[in-house]
Amino acid sequence: MKSENYLKEVLVTKEEIQAICERMGKEITRDFKDKEERIIVLGLLKGCQPFMSDLLKFCDLTLEIDYMDVSSYEGGTESTGEIKILSDMKSPVKGKHVIIVEDIVDSGRTIKKVQDLLEFREAKSITIATLIDKPSGRTVELVPEYIGTEVPPAFIIGYGLDYDELYRNLDCIGIPKDELIKESNE
Ligand code: IMP
Ligand code: MG
Repeated sequence: MKSENYLKEVLVTKEEIQAICERMGKEITRDFKDKEERIIVLGLLKGCQPFMSDLLKFCDLTLEIDYMDVSSYEGGTESTGEIKILSDMKSPVKGKHVIIVEDIVDSGRTIKKVQDLLEFREAKSITIATLIDKPSGRTVELVPEYIGTEVPPAFIIGYGLDYDELYRNLDCIGIPKDELIKESNE
């Protein structure tokens, strides 16, 4: 997918994303390599998908992979505020280290909901690794342990991030062209 057809401004290039994956993967390896308990990397679908697969190439650890499908947007450009767990993870988490992998943390409500659930299920530790942080959008107090990069308060698409379920397969991240949002709304 050619990004220039869809984005009016690129905020994070393909090369920057790959450098982030390498740096973060190495940090996670360093921080978790001596853990005795099992590690689960928990991806939040669908946005985590390209990031999680690139990130894990740089995680030199023995780990489980699991997913949760959580949704907060319903085709729009702003979170509905109501977080739904559409599909739960499969593995038990009690006593395990859980690393949540997310495409973007905006208000923080999605991650907070998942965190509360994992705490209730008695995870040994809960860590957040996000590719993008949008701290301007925060409504709950939350600071991810691993942050790829920060973006200004704009709606963005690409590399897992969608608008109305589209454009997740762009290899970089940026601000969509105006006509793209209007066209999809028609
Ligand atoms: P939060 O609950 O407000 O932190 O929102 C997190 C979720 O909203 C992310 O997992 C994304 O799926 C979605 N989201 C937040 N900001 C954007 C954006 O700029 N573009 C596309 N999706 C976004
Ligand atoms: Mg998401």
